[in-house]
Amino acid sequence: MARSIGHSAILIALCLSLLLAPLVAAIDRISVRGKNLVRPNGERFYLKGLAYQESAPTLSSEENDQSGGFPEPGTFVDPLSLPANCTRDVANFRDLGINAIRVYSVNSSLNHDECMKTFSDAGVYVILDLGLPLNGSINRASPTWDTALQTEYLKTLDAFLPYDNLLAVSVGNEVIANDATTSAAPFVKAAARDMKAYLRSKNSGVLVTYSGADAPAGANGRRKLLADYLACGTNETSIDFYGHNSYAWCGDSSLADSGYSTLASDFADYPIPMIFSEVGCVPSAGADSRPWTEINAIFSPPMTDSFSGAVAFQYFPKDPSAEGKDYGLVSFEGGDVVKRADWATLKSQFAGVNPSTAASTSRPALPACNEQGTGAFAASSQLPPTPDVAYCSCLESTAWPCVARPSARDNPAILGLLTNQACGFLGQAGSSCSAITANGSTGTYGNISFCSPVQRLDWAFSSYYQATNNNAQSCDFSGNATLKANANSSAAGSRQAAAACASQNAVGVKTPADPDEASSSSDGGGGGSSTSSQDGNGATTLPAKAGGLVTTTLLALGLLLVL
Ligand SMILES: *[C@@H]1O[C@H](CO)[C@@H](O)[C@H](O)[C@H]1NC(C)=O
Ligand SMILES: *[C@@H]1O[C@H](CO)[C@@H](O)[C@H](O)[C@H]1NC(C)=O
Ligand SMILES: *[C@@H]1O[C@H](CO)[C@@H](O)[C@H](O)[C@H]1NC(C)=O
Ligand SMILES: *[C@@H]1O[C@H](CO)[C@@H](O)[C@H](O)[C@H]1NC(C)=O
Ligand SMILES: *[C@@H]1O[C@H](CO)[C@@H](O)[C@H](O)[C@H]1NC(C)=O
Ligand SMILES: *[C@@H]1O[C@H](CO)[C@@H](O)[C@H](O)[C@H]1NC(C)=O
Ligand SMILES: *[C@@H]1O[C@H](CO)[C@@H](O)[C@H](O)[C@H]1NC(C)=O
Ligand SMILES: *[C@@H]1O[C@H](CO)[C@@H](O)[C@H](O)[C@H]1NC(C)=O
Repeated sequence: MARSIGHSAILIALCLSLLLAPLVAAIDRISVRGKNLVRPNGERFYLKGLAYQESAPTLSSEENDQSGGFPEPGTFVDPLSLPANCTRDVANFRDLGINAIRVYSVNSSLNHDECMKTFSDAGVYVILDLGLPLNGSINRASPTWDTALQTEYLKTLDAFLPYDNLLAVSVGNEVIANDATTSAAPFVKAAARDMKAYLRSKNSGVLVTYSGADAPAGANGRRKLLADYLACGTNETSIDFYGHNSYAWCGDSSLADSGYSTLASDFADYPIPMIFSEVGCVPSAGADSRPWTEINAIFSPPMTDSFSGAVAFQYFPKDPSAEGKDYGLVSFEGGDVVKRADWATLKSQFAGVNPSTAASTSRPALPACNEQGTGAFAASSQLPPTPDVAYCSCLESTAWPCVARPSARDNPAILGLLTNQACGFLGQAGSSCSAITANGSTGTYGNISFCSPVQRLDWAFSSYYQATNNNAQSCDFSGNATLKANANSSAAGSRQAAAACASQNAVGVKTPADPDEASSSSDGGGGGSSTSSQDGNGATTLPAKAGGLVTTTLLALGLLLVL
């Protein structure tokens, strides 16, 4: 009996493996070689992409101030969690002839299996931004790279690492928006460094990128300084490719009129690949007939010397209450997708390009990280350490007696206000908030400035309380703060607890701990500093995981059946 079951099981397993055979020849892993993106066979890869995220209402101006002062949506719909929509839209992606979508925000706790498989089967890669609206991305007005953001980013990575068509993740979109926000750059670079270390620890070949806002070439050269800064250093600290958001080519423009010529010459020697991570200028509101002639320019020399394709902005129409112009290539009528006038134009532009698949042999060295603390690009080359979840949790549970009440903890919009208030009082009491303050232009990072916004507030509340000799009225803040029961509230007790936490957790640059393990163990720092290998940015081909996963699945299926 066992034997006959065994035979049919093997037959079934064989049939299954034949059925699943196309999966084994899964979508190619794309890697970086010098200035190019390449397929495993060495052919150069170009991105024909489309931005794919439903538009959401723009924040009020007051909310904008809280989130960095830039008109942005406060909510999002996770487009990779809606299988029926993905199945509907993939047919359109095939029609348009694209091979990638860019998605700006997803919810890591939802299931993405069906959408990701639907897109993978259609040869569509995903470039995924790790940020979320509101407090879920690096705040350009008050930047940090902290435990809360890192945990959110890692949860998203963990949710998407199983998918073979995840091409890249982005650690930020237009975080640096003008000269005043260049001091956010060290936090963006630290985020890329830590995501790369985590991916390396998982043997993942997923690439790490950043999407920069365009800036007039004359804007103190910021565009180039930022791109160089994010590429500088070693393989460990450099992003894998740079994304450039540009709406400079409007109407039927030209290389000269759009400034593309300057872009091409500025970046001729840029050492890593670049893409246009958004294009598609709408010259005036209501215009619905973009000529998309930038596509031909982007897929031809001289642009192809540095750029490896473009993401057209965007599939979905503008939400009626969102600010700005409507970039949608489709509209919806009673649930049906209606292709707008410029859909066919973009389709024929994409179909008309035929760039050379010969990869460049050029392997420029990564630039050195020059000190940029002053002047037009005020970003230090000194990066903050890796946010250490275990260290901050230890401090939170043992060292801080006066803490924020749930009403404040759950209200990200007032955390900054309350922290500033506590820091003001602390200053009057002759102390300061330097321990929780991070300054990206001077490269000085307070030793607990990478703890979460709530933890930094708890530290400030507790420090003020102790600076006033444990006056109970100091732990109130209009009802936002409260004393912890059973805490040793003396300053000496806090110092001793903090020293114990510090001795258990070595702060530095290291591989972030797995987000599911990090908060439960006190020493889950994820091991020592990452091994440093100075390199000339040569091939970054990494082992593809897809084949292995499928093989494991087949083996497991076979085993199940045999048993
Ligand atoms: C996506 O699908 C849901 C139902 O699954 C639907 O309610 C929603 O309108 C769809 N969104 C878009 C933009 O098509
Ligand atoms: C993610 O989805 C869960 C389950 O629907 C929901 O509770 C949570 O609020 C969502 N998170 C975000 C950031 O949207
Ligand atoms: C944003 O705020 C929510 C609600 O308080 C919180 O659960 C979440 O951890 C915060 N995210 C970050 C990255 O700070
Ligand atoms: C960082 O330090 C510089 C120099 O002391 C100062 O001008 C700047 O305001 C500081 N930035 C922040 C965000 O504290
Ligand atoms: C908490 O702080 C906020 C912001 O300063 C304030 O508006 C509020 O009244 C305070 N108290 C409570 C109980 O929320
Ligand atoms: C609090 O901790 C300090 C330092 O260890 C100790 O001297 C003090 O006795 C403790 N106080 C209480 C009430 O346990
Ligand atoms: C942080 O550094 C200050 C000195 O700048 C020191 O007094 C304090 O104990 C340190 N805090 C922790 C938690 O290590
Ligand atoms: C760069 O790092 C990746 C891992 O992230 C590694 O596979 C690759 O070999 C490295 N490249 C060089 C030239 O060392």
